[in-house]
Amino acid sequence: MSDASAADRVRAFYADYHARMGNTSGWPDMHDARLTYAAACREIDLIAAGSVLDVGSGEGHLLPFLRASGFRGAYVGVELLEAPHRSAVRRYGRDRNATFMHADFDALDLGDSRFDWVVSLGSLAVRQPDQAASDRRALKRMVDRARVGLALYVNDRRRVPPAWFDDMPRLAAHDLDALGELLAELGWPMVNLRWYAGDHGAMVHAHPLEPTND
Ligand SMILES: C[S@@+](CC[C@H](N)C(=O)[O-])C[C@H]1O[C@@H](n2cnc3c(N)ncnc32)[C@H](O)[C@@H]1O
Repeated sequence: MSDASAADRVRAFYADYHARMGNTSGWPDMHDARLTYAAACREIDLIAAGSVLDVGSGEGHLLPFLRASGFRGAYVGVELLEAPHRSAVRRYGRDRNATFMHADFDALDLGDSRFDWVVSLGSLAVRQPDQAASDRRALKRMVDRARVGLALYVNDRRRVPPAWFDDMPRLAAHDLDALGELLAELGWPMVNLRWYAGDHGAMVHAHPLEPTND
């Protein structure tokens, strides 16, 4: 079941984000954004991949990175917030094999669509009252959509500078052991974990234990 107030918390977190942090995409600048995209794509065979679902696609900047890296497949970006969604459509909407959806992924009916890769770069970064339940719900929805792999960015709780929580009290930072256990429980064990971006950003990849059916 989706939780409308979870979406409201995400909206509230980003409401004055630009004014406070000086950027709209969640990364300090495009250099940092590209580091994130490169870390996400490190495990993905972009030539072979037929489709990517980008959960929390922001302003859509992952798409040109994927294209420049050889991805020719279908891209679907889902973004909760209207302003970045509009920006994505304005910038990248001419790509004929890309669709940008303005929607809450947690409540979105994608029918029986499946994607080779599901990517979530920061969509779990807003703290929720029951973080474990919220993560479980979101990750279950993601792995149910994925055939080959999942690429997930989270903030590592043990490495985020404590002062960040003064600036961003609603920032979610994850216990990576618990995240690994949750993914394993879902049948998608973590295959790799890398830290980058000031050492607090963690990129996790996961693949299904059992081959997924189409
Ligand atoms: C840190 S930003 C990163 C944006 C983009 N992935 C990028 O790397 O440039 C995370 C985005 O996830 C979006 N998001 C969070 N929860 C979401 C949900 N349930 N459905 C759709 N988008 C969501 C936020 O609105 C925000 O734009």
